[in-house]
Amino acid sequence: MRRVVCPGSFDPITNGHLDIIGRSARLYDEVTVAVLINVEKSSLFTVDERIEILQTVTKDFDNVKVRKFHGLLVDFCKQNDIPAIVKGIRVVSDFDYELQMAQLNYRLSGVETLFMPTNPEYSFLSSSRVKEIARYGGDVSGLVPDLVHKLLIERLRGS
Ligand code: PNS
Repeated sequence: MRRVVCPGSFDPITNGHLDIIGRSARLYDEVTVAVLINVEKSSLFTVDERIEILQTVTKDFDNVKVRKFHGLLVDFCKQNDIPAIVKGIRVVSDFDYELQMAQLNYRLSGVETLFMPTNPEYSFLSSSRVKEIARYGGDVSGLVPDLVHKLLIERLRGS
């Protein structure tokens, strides 16, 4: 069984994330989408809400499962017998940041990191920008799954 993890905050998932998850699901037998529980960072959606959203938008992939984790990602990988992490790279600055994390994660545990170039259609996309645009009434349809679009409008309306 070839397993891989797609980790992140997913607050909320964007079409860029979904593209990476879907492409990973075509390459691996099992993809675990792992949502970081980060008590230090404020979020728009709770971890459980994000998990429910992720489960809904990935339901057509029968080899994708969604879990939450706290602490080190490599500990989660070891506990779940996952030998590799997939990370999407949008721009060169992502690579600078991700390379250091990949090397540290390998040094800590031997868990590998594989970089997947983001679909150029989504290379400008991030959860933070999506929230900002939605908060000020901009149109984020096409940038996030339809469910997320609806939930963003509901959550941010009047705030
Ligand atoms: O979507 P994000 O916020 O960019 O995802 C970052 C994430 C969750 C993948 C990263 O912060 C992470 O792996 N956090 C867990 C703590 C950890 O293992 N840190 C790595 C030290 S080298």
